[in-house]
Amino acid sequence: MVRVTFTDHLGSKVAIDHAPGCSVMEAAVENEISGIEAQCYGAAVCGTCHVYVEERWFEATGSKGEWEQAMLDALPLARPGSRLACQIVLSDQLDGAEFEFPERQESLE
Ligand code: FES
Repeated sequence: MVRVTFTDHLGSKVAIDHAPGCSVMEAAVENEISGIEAQCYGAAVCGTCHVYVEERWFEATGSKGEWEQAMLDALPLARPGSRLACQIVLSDQLDGAEFEFPERQESLE
């Protein structure tokens, strides 16, 4: 199992333990974490699984594809550490990682 923590924009944290192999978005949705909408459920076209990743976890989250970067560039609340949670594979290397949600999820669909 991989333990990851989700933090809302007010600082409230919820930790979950989930088997690796799915996306961080799927793990969050399956655990009914609020703060993530995932309207397209992983097709990388809605932008509503937006999370902020601390720099120390960048490498473990893998690299962004061009499409993901284009989606992030269109999100008003994006920061340098922004990712789409549906594009991050929940791997053992992410054990202990934290993902913060923006103040609101904004759909690009
Ligand atoms: Fe829609 Fe990630 S779930 S972009």
